[in-house]
Amino acid sequence: MGLNVIMMGPPGAGKGTQAGRIARERGLLKISTGDILRDAIKEGQPEALLAKAKMDRGELVDDPTMIAIVRQRLLRQDARKGVVLDGFPRTVAQARTLDQILDERGQETLVVVDVVVPEAELVRRLASRRICSNCGTTADPSYLEPACQKCGGKMVQRADDNQGVVLERLKVYHRETKPVLEYYRKRPTFRAVNGAQAPDIVARELDDMIDDARSAGKVR
Ligand code: AP5
Repeated sequence: MGLNVIMMGPPGAGKGTQAGRIARERGLLKISTGDILRDAIKEGQPEALLAKAKMDRGELVDDPTMIAIVRQRLLRQDARKGVVLDGFPRTVAQARTLDQILDERGQETLVVVDVVVPEAELVRRLASRRICSNCGTTADPSYLEPACQKCGGKMVQRADDNQGVVLERLKVYHRETKPVLEYYRKRPTFRAVNGAQAPDIVARELDDMIDDARSAGKVR
């Protein structure tokens, strides 16, 4: 049976860091809606310009656009074993549509994990995060060199990581995305992990939670 994992949590919680690892280790497709939007902007796709304006202000991109992006990725051959969703769903409308899409795909487990981190730590992490302007890789927090370890590209601050936009993203998270947690919370496959621990400890706890939720035998 396929396995799908949703990484929930506020900006800077470590969703992307853990989603990439889980997808790699379990042979699942990672669908990061933020990365997909940033790639489209970098490629200069005309419809991405509107998204860029919203992202730069810390607002959400509209539901129909985001649902179309995820629906198309879920149809891909490499999504058949399952996916790790990073940054989706972010509204209750997106969550409802995802349930419908998964219903169409058949009996697949959906594990939802909330990565919990105090707000002061989120602000601190995002202020110091550096990503590669060429390949988009997020640097390990201890890596302070000006060039990317993978491709040599210039390490920069993400456009939406300046303090004013971070505060707006946190506001939007509380208003639009917290209700999604309530949508999922009562399900037997919902879990919460303490994300304010070292990344390898978060990883170990997450892996145990996913295996435990999966073995409970409930689809969602
Ligand atoms: P998106 O790219 O999804 O941003 P986000 O949700 O704000 O999340 P981040 O990428 O900032 O954080 P993260 O939790 O992935 O943390 P990370 O692993 O990088 O979305 C950007 C924008 O796109 C949105 O604002 C919106 O406009 C639009 N968008 C995207 N999806 C959408 C949707 N579905 N609907 C509508 N609009 C959408 O870690 C952060 C930092 O902390 C890194 O430096 C990392 O190295 C470090 N770190 C990670 N784990 C730890 C740890 N355990 N201890 C210490 N440091 C750690």
